[in-house]
Amino acid sequence: MERRPLVANGPAFSRGQPLKTFDFSPRIFRPVGSSKRDRAVVRCRRSHRHCSAWVWYPRQNLFVAEIGISATGGQVLDGTPCVGARPCRAGARAHALQFGIPPSNVPMLAYRHAFHAGNAADVLKHIVLLGVLERMGAKDKGYWYIDTHAGAGSYRLSERMAQRLAEYQTGIGLLWGRKDLPPPVADYVRRIREFNADGDLRTYPGSPALASMVLRPQDRMRLFELHTTDFRALNATWGQQPNVEVRNSDGFSGIKALLPPPTRRGVVLVDPSYELDSDYGQLVSALRDAIARFATGVYCVWYPQLQSLESIRLPKRLKALAPSSWIHAQLTTSAPRADGYGLMGSGMFIINPPFGLQRSLETVLPWLARVLGQEGAGKSVVEGLAP
Ligand SMILES: C[S@@+](CC[C@H](N)C(=O)[O-])C[C@H]1O[C@@H](n2cnc3c(N)ncnc32)[C@H](O)[C@@H]1O
Repeated sequence: MERRPLVANGPAFSRGQPLKTFDFSPRIFRPVGSSKRDRAVVRCRRSHRHCSAWVWYPRQNLFVAEIGISATGGQVLDGTPCVGARPCRAGARAHALQFGIPPSNVPMLAYRHAFHAGNAADVLKHIVLLGVLERMGAKDKGYWYIDTHAGAGSYRLSERMAQRLAEYQTGIGLLWGRKDLPPPVADYVRRIREFNADGDLRTYPGSPALASMVLRPQDRMRLFELHTTDFRALNATWGQQPNVEVRNSDGFSGIKALLPPPTRRGVVLVDPSYELDSDYGQLVSALRDAIARFATGVYCVWYPQLQSLESIRLPKRLKALAPSSWIHAQLTTSAPRADGYGLMGSGMFIINPPFGLQRSLETVLPWLARVLGQEGAGKSVVEGLAP
């Protein structure tokens, strides 16, 4: 049996070893499995974008993000630390406090987009992004594209992280071989094909890579990425490119210094990992501030469709920022789960959308809901306010 140390000074995991598992909510903490006595898997009920789990080492007073916990939470599939599928930092921190553990022991920035690249949420986000950027190109005057949470830039789907959950199979994978794609989807798939010249789907481009295909010599790209590893990858590709700047810093606060852009034309993609509940509040205040600085900017916000109050309330909070024009597009692909976990779909909220985008999304989202919806759960909403 393979053994790998989970943390430098922690106990080792064994593949396939049963663990004690717990349901976790602020009020409920109960064991739901069997285990060794010195560690436990904490499954957070308030899990955000994706399933998450934290391993708690009571003796070491240590939490470590864990991946590869099976759906029932019963088995260790792997022991790689801190690369979970958007683990719930907030839940783990609250939990740590509950046990008197210093929250500084909770690892930060565990989210890696490589686990999710090309999933149905990326499909929606990137179709909308391309729709916005292509329309921005209708005028000669240059614009700035600012990506506050840029990720690694592009993702190899054959690699371990992408293969682990294989989410691309229920996203871009369902569109790849189809011949009946409506125009905006066909355009999106055509661009992904440019990264996969031999015809096999091997690479999925992230938002910076897709944007760069549309930007023109007079346009500029500014990228923020906080995770050191993803920043390195991003910087290796884009750091030396003309008209591009890559920053290893916080995108929420970083946009302030860039707005308004010198050309007074700009698109800001805000695509946080929602690891913390406070990301929602931070997003709204960063946007409020950005709109005050640059009222005519085009802001595109991605959010996860979850059974949590923060996620349900977000579109309302964005409308309350009182932009004079907006579009809200939501694509549901899975039915809500009885246990309240999991991602049902996702949404894009676009402030100051370019002309024609709403019409295009109204046509394409019902089609995407039919094709990407799991077991008939697909549905879509497109609503908007025009000036
Ligand atoms: C959903 S991913 C980005 C995906 C990318 N926009 C795309 O569509 O290909 C979110 C990224 O934000 C990074 N991140 C988290 N908090 C951040 C912050 N405050 N500022 C900048 N990046 C952050 C994460 O490390 C992660 O790579």
